[in-house]
Amino acid sequence: MPPSPTSGVPPILDVLDVAVEYGGVPALSGVSLSIAPGEVVAIVGPNGAGKSTLLKAIMRVEPLSSGDIIWRGNSLIPATPDKVARSGIAYVPEGRHIFGELTVEENLRLGAISRPSSSTDLAEARGWVASLFPVIAEGRNRHAGLLSGGQQQQLAIARALLADPDLLLLDEPSLGLAPLIIDAVFESIAEIRDAGTAVLLVEQRAQKAMEFADRSLVLAGGLIADRFGDGRAIDQDRVRAAYFDHSSSQDADG
Ligand SMILES: Nc1ncnc2c1ncn2[C@@H]1O[C@H](COP(=O)(O)OP(=O)(O)OP(=O)(O)O)[C@@H](O)[C@H]1O
Ligand SMILES: [Mg+2]
Repeated sequence: MPPSPTSGVPPILDVLDVAVEYGGVPALSGVSLSIAPGEVVAIVGPNGAGKSTLLKAIMRVEPLSSGDIIWRGNSLIPATPDKVARSGIAYVPEGRHIFGELTVEENLRLGAISRPSSSTDLAEARGWVASLFPVIAEGRNRHAGLLSGGQQQQLAIARALLADPDLLLLDEPSLGLAPLIIDAVFESIAEIRDAGTAVLLVEQRAQKAMEFADRSLVLAGGLIADRFGDGRAIDQDRVRAAYFDHSSSQDADG
């Protein structure tokens, strides 16, 4: 069993001893983690570590070769990606995947499709995402493909939030963005967390993500190489060791 995330609060997500292979080659082995409601957990690690694969496994986009994923007490193994999305897990993949030929408004409507029927007023949710992300307030009829990288990232997160998730999976939200824009994206993630949504944040910017998150895991070579948080200070030498003990490639900072 993975260590319990925060004392006394039952987790909403349990990843249990998960393995994923691509054509027989292991990409994840024995990966276990839990997330409590409203918690931010960072996954850092070098290129090819399996970070994106972990998010795809949770979304049921990639099949598990062993292990289980428990969401609010039920296994996600029988679920399709669509069903996972409707059950309260929203996913912003690496590279954003907004629809460039559609307008901002049309992209947002696609997010609202996965909104559970039990959710509160959509107009209220739209007001909240518009207050979080200036790109939406600036004009809903603009073509998404004409937005800057930072604006597209805001739109991708806004679209995910309109599905009213209890858990948001973010794959490298800072990738390719200027430092000021990255700060703005992290500020929005803080507001999302403060509104009660748990976040699983995959980031190459290890130090920034680990300082921001409640807890952090270093994934390297498909294994969880180390865990940080629970009040322990983040020792950068220990982070580097976790990167290099399990992989030969990248630098721990970025
Ligand atoms: N569709 C696929 N088919 C075959 N191999 C894959 C596929 N997707 C990923 N892999 C391999 O699985 C391993 C983990 O990849 P993954 O994309 O999960 O890593 P990552 O930690 O997200 O890397 P990055 O930081 O570059 O985004 C890598 O060796 C990668 O080459
Ligand atoms: Mg990746």
